[in-house]
Amino acid sequence: MKNSSDLQEMKKKGEKIVMITAYDFSSAKCAEAAGVDTILVGDSLGMVVLGYDNTLKVTIEDMIRHSSAVRRGAPNTHIIVDMPYMSYHVSPIQAKENAARLFLETNANAVKLEGGSPSRLEAIAAIVDCEIPVVAHIGLTPQSVHRFGGYKVQGKEVKDYERIKEEALLTEKAGAFMIVLEGIPEKLGREISESLSIPTIGIGAGRYTDGQVMVYHDILGISDYTFKFVKKYQEISRMITEGIETYSEEVRTGLFPTKKNVYFPENDDLKK
Ligand code: KIV
Repeated sequence: MKNSSDLQEMKKKGEKIVMITAYDFSSAKCAEAAGVDTILVGDSLGMVVLGYDNTLKVTIEDMIRHSSAVRRGAPNTHIIVDMPYMSYHVSPIQAKENAARLFLETNANAVKLEGGSPSRLEAIAAIVDCEIPVVAHIGLTPQSVHRFGGYKVQGKEVKDYERIKEEALLTEKAGAFMIVLEGIPEKLGREISESLSIPTIGIGAGRYTDGQVMVYHDILGISDYTFKFVKKYQEISRMITEGIETYSEEVRTGLFPTKKNVYFPENDDLKK
């Protein structure tokens, strides 16, 4: 299993870091079998697994339940757990206590939190002070959806561009060992990646970040969301629906179950 230093070493060697989200035992098993470098149990689970409109209603208990399942499915992969909305916003003490719960109760390797404002930097420093590795996340931070007025690319105006760049530097200073850059212009993703010594992981942040993260359901064609920055590698939802349709048809027409699928078929001799 890779650790935070191994991921940092990858940046030094110019090796791209592969991160994908996973939310349960079976998705984690697939991610581990595919050999990803790190798995993020994102609070995006609120949208793609629980069906909420945004990530804000996800709780610490949701994150613990799903992350523990991911750890069982991927016992040998580095795992990062998202800190949900309002689990680190109140005070550095609240941030430490919740990070410790997520870290200890899920056996994850790190936690991630959103934002680069002064109070977020305090939260990062407080958690790192408890020996818990922290991943920062700036740019289009989904927990700020109401402040942003939707999921909009950030850093298009010069003032925001400079602020995001500054925030990235400050999260590194506060002790984050890696940073997710979401929904920003490619040039900004590149400049931040070149100016930081910690690895940058992009999602809609262009081609020059040190690694990429994608939401499992988006690249596999499970979610209904379509975004410019996503490439679909499979059409799993369609395959599942087709499978269920065939199953339904066979039940209705009596093609399933066949003799192969039943215990002690009626017209066979029972073994005594
Ligand atoms: O929750 C999540 O899946 C994330 C990624 C989009 C980076 O934070």
